[in-house]
Amino acid sequence: MKTFIESIYMTCRRSRCIGLSLLCVLLFFSNNSYGESKTGTAVIDISGTWVGAWKTPMMGDQPQEIVYVLKSENGKITGSQRLPFGTDSQIVDGKIVGNRLELTVRMESFGSFQDQVVTGEISGNEIKITPIMPGPPAENNSGTGGASSGNNSPPPGNEGAQGAPPAQGGQSEPVVLHRGVPTPSYRAASVDFKTLPEVSLPAVLALPWNGLAKTPPMGWNSWNKFQTKIDDKTVREIADAMVASGMKDAGYTYIVIDDGWQWKRDDNDILMPNPNFPDMKALADYVHSKGLKLGIYSSPGPRTCGGFEGSYGHEELDAGTWAEWGIDYLKYDWCSASSIWDEKEMQAVYQKMAEALRKTGRPIVYSLCQYGRASVQEWGPSAGGNLWRTTTDISDRWQSMVSNGFSQSDLSPYAGPGKWNDPDMLEIGNGGMTADEYKTHFSLWCMIASPLIAGNDLRNMTDETKEILTNKEVIAVDQDPLGKGGYRLSKDGETEVWIKPLANGDTAVALFNRGTSEAGMSVKWSDIKMSGKLKVRDLWSHRDLAALPDGLTVKVAPHGVVMVRVSK
Ligand code: GLA
Repeated sequence: MKTFIESIYMTCRRSRCIGLSLLCVLLFFSNNSYGESKTGTAVIDISGTWVGAWKTPMMGDQPQEIVYVLKSENGKITGSQRLPFGTDSQIVDGKIVGNRLELTVRMESFGSFQDQVVTGEISGNEIKITPIMPGPPAENNSGTGGASSGNNSPPPGNEGAQGAPPAQGGQSEPVVLHRGVPTPSYRAASVDFKTLPEVSLPAVLALPWNGLAKTPPMGWNSWNKFQTKIDDKTVREIADAMVASGMKDAGYTYIVIDDGWQWKRDDNDILMPNPNFPDMKALADYVHSKGLKLGIYSSPGPRTCGGFEGSYGHEELDAGTWAEWGIDYLKYDWCSASSIWDEKEMQAVYQKMAEALRKTGRPIVYSLCQYGRASVQEWGPSAGGNLWRTTTDISDRWQSMVSNGFSQSDLSPYAGPGKWNDPDMLEIGNGGMTADEYKTHFSLWCMIASPLIAGNDLRNMTDETKEILTNKEVIAVDQDPLGKGGYRLSKDGETEVWIKPLANGDTAVALFNRGTSEAGMSVKWSDIKMSGKLKVRDLWSHRDLAALPDGLTVKVAPHGVVMVRVSK
C-alpha cells in the first residue's frame, strides 16, 4: 500500500496539473501522518499514561478503569497494562505500524504467564485498544456453574467475571483511551506461584458447628455495587444508612467489605489495609457502636479474584489480625487457589482457615465462596462453613438471577441452622431489573433460606427498594427458626410453585411466573399437605386472601410472584 501511495506521489510531483498537485499535497500529508519512517518504525510518541473506561457484560455492565502506561524508545514500546482484574501486566514489546499499535503483553492468569498481542488504533489524541481477557480459551472451559460443576477453572464466563479473572480468555470490545491520571491501585504484584513456599493442609475432619448463623445471615456487602471502589467513609455511611433506613430493624446486621481493602504485608508479614481504610479497628468500633457487625474478604490463594494479596501461607496470621480488628464475618474466595490445589483438596483448604478463625477465640461467621464446586453442600459444614456459595456470580439481570435462584431446589436438604446454601448476594435496588423482578428475587431467596446480603447503595434507596428489602413478612420466611430450605413443588411451562415448611406448622408458598405475560396459577391444599379451614396471608400485599376450601387461585404478573403464608 505504502509503495503504491509513494509512486502516485512521485507522479504527482512530476505533473503540472493543479488538480493533481492538490492530490499530491493530500497524499503527502496522509503518507506522513502514518508516522512511519523509511524503516517502518514509529515516530509518533505515545509515551505516557492512557486511561479508558471498559464496559463489557463480562464485568456486570459497569464501566471499569483500564490503564496503559507506555514508553516509546527508538521505535520500541514497553510499559504496563492494568485491567480491572488481576495484577498489572508488563508490556514487553510493542511497535506502531501506520496508525496501528501492537503490544506484546505478558499476562498472568493465576500464577502462570502468557504473552498476548494486544492491538490498537491511534487517531489524534485517542487510542482505540482491544484488550485481551486473561484465562484459558473457551474450549478449555467446561464449567457451567450450579451446584456441583466439577471443574477447576475460575468462575465461569459471564456471571463469574465481576472482578474474578474471567474463565474465558480472548479479545473483548475496543476501549477508547485518553491521556489521564488513573485511580491508585493497591493490587499485589504479579508473582510466579511456583516460587512460593508450599502450604501444608490439615487432615480432613468433621469440625463441630461454631454455633453461629442459626438463621441465614443478613447484611450488606460492598461488591455488587462498588466492586473494588470501596473505602472507610463509604462503609461508615452504609452503616449509618443501615440503621436510618430501617434495614437494621428488619434484621440486617453484617456490613461486609468485599475485595479491594487489602494492600501489602508489613515487615512482620501482617496484611495492611490500603490507604482507603486508614484504621480498620476504628472502623470496626464504629460499626459495632451502631449495633452492627463487620465482615471482611480474603482468598486461600496468593491473590484474590481482584488481584489483591490473599491469605496463602498466612492463614493464622490473617485470622489473628482480623480478630484483633474486631471482624465478625469472613468471606473466603477460592479464585487463585485453583492454581495451587485441585478440588479434592478444597475441603482441607477451607478447614485450614476455619481452624485459624477458631483459634482466635472470636466468633466469626465463615462464608465459603467457591461457586458451588466439588459438591460443597456435602462438606461445607464439616469444613467449618456457615454458608457456601452454590453458584457463579450473580449480576443485576433477570437471566442471571433466574439461573442462580431457580437452580437451588435440589440443594434444600443441605440447609439448616448454622449451614446455608448461598446463591449469591442480592441485586435489589441496583437498577437492572423491574420491581416485580426484584420481588421475585427477594421471595425466591427467602424461600430458599438463603443469606440475605443486600448489594445496593443503602444511602440512596428508593421507597420501592426499601419496601422490598425490609418486607418483614417475607423476611420471616427466610429467618424461620426451623431452617428448612424451600423447594419446587411443581412446574408448568414458565410457572413454578415452591414451598417451605415453617416452624409453627405453617407453609410458605410462592407462585412464580417466569413468563412474559400474566399467568393464572393455582395451588391445591392437598399438594402442600394441609386441609381444614386455612388462613392465607399475602406477604406482599399484606392482607388476608379469600381462598377456596381446596386451594388458592391467583393471577401472577409477568416475571412476578405471589407469596403467601398458609396457616391452620
Ligand atoms: C468473586 C466472587 C465475588 C466477589 C469477587 C471479588 O468473583 O464470587 O462475589 O467477591 O470475586 O473479586
